[in-house]
Amino acid sequence: QETSTASPSGANAAVRDALENAPTTHARLLAWVREVTDLTEPDTLVWVDGSEAEWTRLTDEMVETGTLVRLAEDKFPNSFAAFSDPEDVARVEEQTFICSKEERGSGPTNNWMDPEDMKATLRGLYRGSMHGRTMYVIPFVMGSLDATDPKFGVELTDSPYVVCSMRIMATIGSAVLDKMTATDAFFVEALHSVGQPLDNGQDDVPWPCSETKYIVQFPEDRAIWSYGSGYGGNALLGKKCYALRIASAIAHDEGWLAEHMLVLKITDPQQRAHYVAGAFPSACGKTNFAMIEPTVEGWKAEMVGDDIAWMRFDESGTLRVVNPEAGLFGVAPGTGWSTNPNAMRAVAKGNTIFTNVALTDDGGVWWEGMTDEVPAHLTDWRGRSWTPASKNPAAHPNSRFCTPIKQVDILAPEYDDPDGVPLSAIIFGGRRKTTVPLVHESFDWEHGVFEGATLSSETTAAASGAVGVVRRDPMAMLPFIGYNAGDYLAHWVKLGKTHAGHMPKIFYVNWFRRDRDGKFAWPGFGENSRVLKWIVGRLEGEASGEQTPIGIVPRPEDLDLTGLDISEQQLGDALKVDVEEWRKELPGIHQWFNVLHDSLPPEMVRQYHRLEVRLEV
Ligand code: GTP
Ligand code: MN
Ligand code: MN
Repeated sequence: QETSTASPSGANAAVRDALENAPTTHARLLAWVREVTDLTEPDTLVWVDGSEAEWTRLTDEMVETGTLVRLAEDKFPNSFAAFSDPEDVARVEEQTFICSKEERGSGPTNNWMDPEDMKATLRGLYRGSMHGRTMYVIPFVMGSLDATDPKFGVELTDSPYVVCSMRIMATIGSAVLDKMTATDAFFVEALHSVGQPLDNGQDDVPWPCSETKYIVQFPEDRAIWSYGSGYGGNALLGKKCYALRIASAIAHDEGWLAEHMLVLKITDPQQRAHYVAGAFPSACGKTNFAMIEPTVEGWKAEMVGDDIAWMRFDESGTLRVVNPEAGLFGVAPGTGWSTNPNAMRAVAKGNTIFTNVALTDDGGVWWEGMTDEVPAHLTDWRGRSWTPASKNPAAHPNSRFCTPIKQVDILAPEYDDPDGVPLSAIIFGGRRKTTVPLVHESFDWEHGVFEGATLSSETTAAASGAVGVVRRDPMAMLPFIGYNAGDYLAHWVKLGKTHAGHMPKIFYVNWFRRDRDGKFAWPGFGENSRVLKWIVGRLEGEASGEQTPIGIVPRPEDLDLTGLDISEQQLGDALKVDVEEWRKELPGIHQWFNVLHDSLPPEMVRQYHRLEVRLEV
């Protein structure tokens, strides 16, 4: 029999108590937390307040249980290393679903299942999945808490690693909950369980997870259900799941864009500043470019964001961009004192969680590319003794550092302006050994959208599966579009029409082209500032270029190459537009457009034919 004082069916005294003494009166939140505790049956329930004391308590506990290794205080203060299950090291795209009501809403590029069927499947998995564990309630906001319409979320998770990582990546805790409660705000429900209940006093493992994994977005409900993985992109639900998949669906409905882009501010010697955004697929250079240290005399770069950009038009029609994140979840390998000193300085300040890096014998961390000199002995990410003679890399290729953005020295002061910064240019980029030149400019918005739509890149370790295979990755969003990919492209086309005259110029870069000896043709990293200088020159109407079938490409004399050590041949290899190579691109584009089938916008077909004409096929 039900009475108003009846306790939730299975809830134990501790959970009941935490529910009764909840620090909020938000009715929908309370009802949902109660429903999830009933389903997952945790031992205890904790309302996360986001405090320093809480961080200390949780990290202490995780050091105790073996989930975290505390690093040497003199090297990396208040910092920790985590080591995942070897089967839980990356996003799992084949287990990621967009469960819209209609199959068409998910589109040909996402996995789909009927939402009710999916919920039934997942409820079966979540039933009792938090036995023996604590369920944490993490109120969070993506973007500024002071935004006109703050984008709230609440993550329920049984992973303290997730709580601490979320504290770095987003604004979380009491202040968020208070504002949510006071304004009775809408929030995205984000449910996460590692899927490894501890029954009958069973011992825990350092990195609990399940062989069965599901990363599920319900775009109409604005809800996220994640099961079985503790890895960042699968488990820190504010990031890819909310700020990209759910937000892109919201953005489609509301007329804005949620994109997989870095944002940086570039200031020239005359103190003219421009903000540019860059969409490169995972592990293709966003974090590095966002933190670039220009090698061109007198130019200054500052970072606004390194992974996600929310772009909206203000009343005057200006496209303004916000970084919704408060931290960096960066690829460790290849990040080093010579390639990205700004990232190194940020992590050296501490307050960082490293995942799947190697440990040095003196309590520090190391990964491939961190220093030129390789340590004589390490403990690799799987806990094995490692020397330079070892066959396997010491750090997992997708090992990561999770660091507060505030620790970045070159952070633009306006990085967290709730109104965002005005955008001058969008740069697409991919990882291609051949064909795609160092940089080119699109003819116009529609052509630029076509270039983004056909963006191609060789796959990396950031997602599970084969590495080095060329695939089409529209706007670097293939794994993150929360709705139909054809509708997504149509949305881009439409914004260009609605806001004609206000759209940023579109460019396309490739830092990864190989020369005839198989080496990188372009030195990259800080030297990419020479490309930025050309882009700014184009924006200001000061730089020249050559008209080619794919767009406007700088000639060697159009680039500032002062002091750069590059042979004429390498530069030629980097900038070359080879019509034959481009003709060979066409079948791949055609095939990709066939995948989109009847949702492909006609403007993209038109652009394809124009490219054919320019290539004289
Ligand atoms: P996600 O965080 O997964 O979305 O990836 P990301 O786009 O931020 O990639 P990141 O900047 O971490 O770069 C990944 C890899 O690309 C690292 O191994 C870098 O060393 C390498 N990389 C970045 N910029 C350059 C460059 O200009 N030239 C070359 N050759 N490699 C680069
Ligand atoms: Mn990313
Ligand atoms: Mn990154």
